[in-house]
Amino acid sequence: MVDGKFNNITGWAAKQNGTPLEPWTYEARPIGTKDVEIQIQCCGICGSDIHTIDSGWGKTNHPVIVGHEIIGKVTAKGDEVSHLQIGDLVGVGAQAFGCLESDCRACSRGLEPHCPKGVFTYNAKYPDGKVSQGGYAEAVRVNSHFAIRIPSEISPQEAAPLMCAGPTVFTPMLRKGVKKGDRVGVVGIGGLGHLALQFARALGCEVTAFSSSDNKKEECLKLGATKFINIKKEEDLKKAKMSLDYLYITSNAKSNDYNKMASWVDYEGQMCLLALPENNLDINPRTLIKGSKYIGGSLIGGIKDIEKTLSFAAEHNIRPIIEKMPMSKVNEGIQSVRDGKVRYRVVLEN
Ligand SMILES: NC(=O)c1ccc[n+]([C@@H]2O[C@H](COP(=O)([O-])OP(=O)(O)OC[C@H]3O[C@@H](n4cnc5c(N)ncnc54)[C@H](OP(=O)(O)O)[C@@H]3O)[C@@H](O)[C@H]2O)c1
Ligand SMILES: [Zn+2]
Ligand SMILES: [Zn+2]
Repeated sequence: MVDGKFNNITGWAAKQNGTPLEPWTYEARPIGTKDVEIQIQCCGICGSDIHTIDSGWGKTNHPVIVGHEIIGKVTAKGDEVSHLQIGDLVGVGAQAFGCLESDCRACSRGLEPHCPKGVFTYNAKYPDGKVSQGGYAEAVRVNSHFAIRIPSEISPQEAAPLMCAGPTVFTPMLRKGVKKGDRVGVVGIGGLGHLALQFARALGCEVTAFSSSDNKKEECLKLGATKFINIKKEEDLKKAKMSLDYLYITSNAKSNDYNKMASWVDYEGQMCLLALPENNLDINPRTLIKGSKYIGGSLIGGIKDIEKTLSFAAEHNIRPIIEKMPMSKVNEGIQSVRDGKVRYRVVLEN
């Protein structure tokens, strides 16, 4: 067995619901033949981290170190890892393991996040019962398939949000063939949303930003929106009726009005849920049937999708707007996300 640099890993853990994260050390998983150990340089704060800290999606396996927009350098690798070298700068998104078998309905189609044996980067259980631990830490060990080389054009801090937020918004655009001239709307201009505006513009779409924050208007227009609609203003909303081919929902507000959102979509248009709100959707079937509108959802992206996200971002100069913060200020960063103050992603640095 290969020895790593971090046999014990210290990070910032949520020990129970509703308390600040605290330093905590856990015993690292052994480095298997296909695994890598990564010394973490930085990690973004994703909305999903907050849902998990709060047990918003069901009871969390506390203590847990969240964080799945991880960038760092390879410090050790298993004997069968040939595509990565010690010292390589890599990123890890929301997945740390998948079966990768040719008969897996998910892995064989590049849909690793749906692998029945998949393990998310944190708060998931490995077959041995141990809970996976994420990136608000000094290091992480994952299956090397899920560690992706970062293009040199993108700085480590800007690459972090491109490990989760980026592929989450770009993958459904790619897989559904969103193209030049299509009318794309994005609801919720946070970590995911501000990247969605940029990816849609780079694809040549006509982009509308739907936000509850008027003070994001100028930036939305710079990031690629040609129209800005304040979802709290009925006058603004009238202009949005039947105006979209695709609508990406990244706001997880409990007050989201999905019937209203459907009214912004044109005949045969598609609404894609990317946010994972803690409540169920309330939608009138007639809203969808009358107008032949579709609603669906999309989960992060497979490894090829993440690679495409990174290369497309490098090529089209798509970068997140980030607020850097030392990892030791993680609780301030989280509070800032909760207060809706972040423009547009906090990236914690070691
Ligand atoms: N599908 C996936 O695979 C996937 C991947 C990553 C994240 N997610 C989910 O996507 C959602 C958004 O993540 P994110 O990282 O983009 O979060 P974020 O940075 O906090 O952005 C969410 C945005 O939603 C809007 N919003 C309005 N009311 C809100 C409320 N009450 N609470 C929270 N947001 C509100 C805000 O935009 P305005 O100010 O413009 O209204 C806010 O900036 C989360 O539910 C997260 O778990 C899903
Ligand atoms: Zn995420
Ligand atoms: Zn699989």
